[in-house]
Amino acid sequence: MSRVRKAVFPVAGLGTRFLPATKAIPKEMLTIVDRPLIQYAVDECRAAGIEEFVFVTGRNKQVIEDHFDLAYELEATLEARGNKQHELGQTRAATIRTGNAIFTRQQQPLGLGHAVWCARPWIGNEPFAVLLPDELTLSTPGCTAELVNLHDRTGGSAIAVMDVPREQTNRYGIVAIRNDDGTVAEVTGMVEKPKPAEAPSTLSIIGRYVLLPEVFEHLERRDIGAGGEIQLTDAMARMIGHGPFHAMRYRGARYDCGNRLGFLEANVAVSLARPDIAAESRAVIESLLKS
Ligand code: G1P
Repeated sequence: MSRVRKAVFPVAGLGTRFLPATKAIPKEMLTIVDRPLIQYAVDECRAAGIEEFVFVTGRNKQVIEDHFDLAYELEATLEARGNKQHELGQTRAATIRTGNAIFTRQQQPLGLGHAVWCARPWIGNEPFAVLLPDELTLSTPGCTAELVNLHDRTGGSAIAVMDVPREQTNRYGIVAIRNDDGTVAEVTGMVEKPKPAEAPSTLSIIGRYVLLPEVFEHLERRDIGAGGEIQLTDAMARMIGHGPFHAMRYRGARYDCGNRLGFLEANVAVSLARPDIAAESRAVIESLLKS
């Protein structure tokens, strides 16, 4: 059995790119077809054998907690109707067992590194996953499951990466690697949002991590990095050389749902991939394209 049992979701962001939709609804609750983004991340963890979740939230995020709570009245109503077994199943699948979800607040917007640091009392001294729910990854067994498997083999930290065009390196954390077998490589360096000319490679971090708890010691320093924020990438960079650290090229589908086009693309892609609505979705999209 894997020792990776817990995951952290940094979900304190304001979601300004989706205003006005995100005035009263957290961006993580925007839906891809019929599931909120955050549930895809939770389900991805479950596929990796992870059942304990720490949500690092902010103001206006209470509805995330409600989403994963047991909805007693709703379930009782669906049950009484008799013909709502499917809907009941879907509702129950979105519930996290009592005691397995922690909601804690990042009180100031000090950066991703600080958000992850806020989860430390609940992680303790064990390896853990971090998922940025804006990034939707779809594959079998799943990006996090692949990282957990890699961690189980190496005993170290592991992050998922994908190639980006060089002119986009300033949007991502970028890694330097050696001993590349085409899928997995050792990480030798890491820099947050480097200019294209200064990037050590074009391999970008895609928001999926399995980290050793030592990362908290580095986050504790609260060093300020790119964009004036406490960066997770900087803390990870300091871990290199003190234990195994690998990058894994992720080959599944990935959508950046933090921007409108990526979000639209994800909705279309998931509609076309879902057996229950694929044929109808295709017909709707084809007819729209003809008009
Ligand atoms: C964060 C990370 C960055 C990573 C990116 C993936 O940046 O800091 O290293 O490449 O997520 O989406 P953000 O998009 O929050 O600026």
